[in-house]
Amino acid sequence: APKSVATVRIGDKDYPSDEYTNVTPKIISYLGRNLHLQRNNPLSIVRQRIVNYFYSSFTHRGNPTFSVYDNLSPIVTTKQNFDDLLIPADHPSRAKSDCYYVNKDMLLRAHMTAHQSELLKSGLDNFLMIGDVYRRDEIDSTHFPIFHQVDAVRSQRKDELFHDKPDLEIFEPIFDPKNPHGFINSINDPMKQSCHTLEATKLMEMQLKNHLLGLVKVLFGKDIKHRWVDEYFPFTHPSWELEIYYENKWMEILGCGIVRNEILANAGSTNTIAYAFGLGLERLAMALYKIPDIRLMWSTDSGFLSQFENKDINAKITYKPVSVFPQCVNDISFWLPPNYTIDTFVSNDFYDLVRDVGGDIIEQVRLKDKFVHPKSKKHSLCYSIIYRHLERTLTQVEVNEIHKQIEKAVVDNFNVTIR
Ligand code: PHE
Repeated sequence: APKSVATVRIGDKDYPSDEYTNVTPKIISYLGRNLHLQRNNPLSIVRQRIVNYFYSSFTHRGNPTFSVYDNLSPIVTTKQNFDDLLIPADHPSRAKSDCYYVNKDMLLRAHMTAHQSELLKSGLDNFLMIGDVYRRDEIDSTHFPIFHQVDAVRSQRKDELFHDKPDLEIFEPIFDPKNPHGFINSINDPMKQSCHTLEATKLMEMQLKNHLLGLVKVLFGKDIKHRWVDEYFPFTHPSWELEIYYENKWMEILGCGIVRNEILANAGSTNTIAYAFGLGLERLAMALYKIPDIRLMWSTDSGFLSQFENKDINAKITYKPVSVFPQCVNDISFWLPPNYTIDTFVSNDFYDLVRDVGGDIIEQVRLKDKFVHPKSKKHSLCYSIIYRHLERTLTQVEVNEIHKQIEKAVVDNFNVTIR
């Protein structure tokens, strides 16, 4: 008899599962919440302000020149999320320990840039992509496995970029834009891609940086302290990150750069140069409204949402904690199975399991101690799990019960021995 195929259900669809599958029921339960589209959610207010900024900055005969896509499915192929963006097959961002895979060919998008190539292929040249993205990560007040990004592409032809300097060119004479595949487009020069002229690259860089800094000033006021940091992304060159100074620390809020010409050429856009960027909505919203914990974005509590209700989107809002409920801290220590070491144990697997069992009352998980037994050479780990409910006081009895369930799940899943 044919072997039945194991599947994973997401929404009303079944996907074949395989050795890559690591989406958890907990994560799947968040799909479709679309916080960025919910009225009164701070993420939605920030989204509207950003979209308004781009609409008003770029108009052509009174019409916006950007189109906005904010309802694209978060289930994408590895081709969309990685290959189309020139992310190499062995790049660490593809690791199972960092992404939520549906199976070896599909995953929950790890960035909104996953839609860049298909939208370019459909003929668009200026567009915003807004939605939820999924990454496996540690657990604390600024990290949640799902967050929201606004990604954008702005392309220009020679007549747009150099409309007042018609003798300048986008491409170097040695490069034939009509035959892009007959040229190895090098990124060895930190200033530019080898196919582009320095003039075109510099003008694009200037526009990109002005454009983004303008946004940050509209959001945070003109005195906001900022700095540009050189970065590397496989899909842009050169690339930068923008950091703003917030609460005595530099905070990274976006990545950007000049789109690699191979991506444009593969999408059929052979006569343009483009810049792209991706910014995180959670960080902006937390800084703008002084929201202390990222989990609050997911709150359905009226004490939270009412503070953002029916407000002028440009009004200055400062979140007032409804009240702060106490934390409970319980430690968990265990011996790893004989074939495991502290370095081969995948901590993100552990974090996902803790969140699966404990749900949203898990505030933070912290590695407290690691130890190798001098005689048995067995490795042991100790984590502190910090529990806090955002809307009521947890009792120690209740926390102990959940903690016990976590211990059991950890034993069942990782074959460890509780100390
Ligand atoms: N996708 C990048 C990230 O998630 C951000 C980015 C988008 C960088 C577009 C450059 C261009 O970090």
